[in-house]
Amino acid sequence: MRIGSLTLKSNLFLSPLAGYTNLPFRLTLREIGGLDLATTDLVNARSLLEKNRKALKLIETSPADSPLAVQLFGAVPEEMRDAAAYLESIGIASVDINMGCPVRKVCKVGGGSAMMTELDKTSALVKGMVNAVKIPVTAKMRLGWDDGNLTAPDLARALEDAGVAAIFVHGRTREQGFSGSVKLHGIRAVVEAVKSIPVIGNGDVTTPEAAKMMFEETGCAGVSIGRGAFYNPWIFRHTKHFLETGELPPEPEFDERVRVMCRHLDLMAEIFGEELGCRMFRKVAPWYSKRFGPANEFNKKVVLLSTRAEFHELLEKYREWRRQFLDESGELRPGYRPAPMVASFMQESAVAQRTQIPVPKGPVEVW
Ligand SMILES: Cc1cc2nc3c(=O)[nH]c(=O)nc-3n(C[C@H](O)[C@H](O)[C@H](O)COP(=O)(O)O)c2cc1C
Repeated sequence: MRIGSLTLKSNLFLSPLAGYTNLPFRLTLREIGGLDLATTDLVNARSLLEKNRKALKLIETSPADSPLAVQLFGAVPEEMRDAAAYLESIGIASVDINMGCPVRKVCKVGGGSAMMTELDKTSALVKGMVNAVKIPVTAKMRLGWDDGNLTAPDLARALEDAGVAAIFVHGRTREQGFSGSVKLHGIRAVVEAVKSIPVIGNGDVTTPEAAKMMFEETGCAGVSIGRGAFYNPWIFRHTKHFLETGELPPEPEFDERVRVMCRHLDLMAEIFGEELGCRMFRKVAPWYSKRFGPANEFNKKVVLLSTRAEFHELLEKYREWRRQFLDESGELRPGYRPAPMVASFMQESAVAQRTQIPVPKGPVEVW
């Protein structure tokens, strides 16, 4: 898989999830495997140029976190250009432009989804960035503003002419938010609109089978996964294996889930400091526990977490409590096992899927 001058070891990508796709999470995923190019949370181009402390923390990386794309948002061409050049100068592999964010704060200044509505202006901004750097510049968009304005194919074509190296497309409109089903035919329309650059499909991929279906139905060159990686940090490794061999690896056991969760917390503490890391982990741990079976005892306590010692203590107590749901061989008894994950586009009722893939709380209400 190639994106501009970058050759990648995987055609599976991590989608940016503001508030979540930080260095500890990326490292956790990379240690499990199957992922190559990962993206940061969106970063305000101006804040980056001003060397704002929070913006610099968002682009924090390490040699093991490579190759890394930084996602920029902004609507001032000079700022976007200079921010891209700065990122190239510090060794970032690729720059992604956010054109899908529907949040008012971002659209109001002409960034995010607003960019999908002004083709000429957006093309000019992108050209400025592409001409300023040698690393690939990519764009991430939704299908359009609403069902009456499915602009993604036109925008993708215009951006290809402007020099973008790949398009990431979430198969929903801005109006849809996260409701309804991901439209695979909408992604296919983007694949068909471009001449030669790769299009990477995105939305609701929570299983290897869903990824395969997205590849097959849309003809996309890659699949990008956001929330599915939270449920299941093994998703990249398992999907890669499934695509290469046709075999579906078994779901990780409880102990393996706990091991990875503890590793994630250790990385959070290492990178953000114990106190902040633990506080941030309060909203991360319940994603792991969604696949533990009954977990209310765990979830109630983890929201009060402030040290790693506390975490290990609550985990031991939870293990004891969870025993009542296990059979003699240590497996969850039927009825307590979490329901299998199903992507919206793989089942008839999108409504049922909404209960399966909640949208995490975060700095943004809708993406
Ligand atoms: C909490 C949250 C934060 C997000 N932050 C970003 C972001 O910073 N930039 C972006 O382009 N998309 C963002 N998205 C959208 C995701 O990248 C992705 O397109 C969307 O969640 C659909 O993919 P998924 O079903 O695999 O999660 C965000 C989504 C969520 C739920």
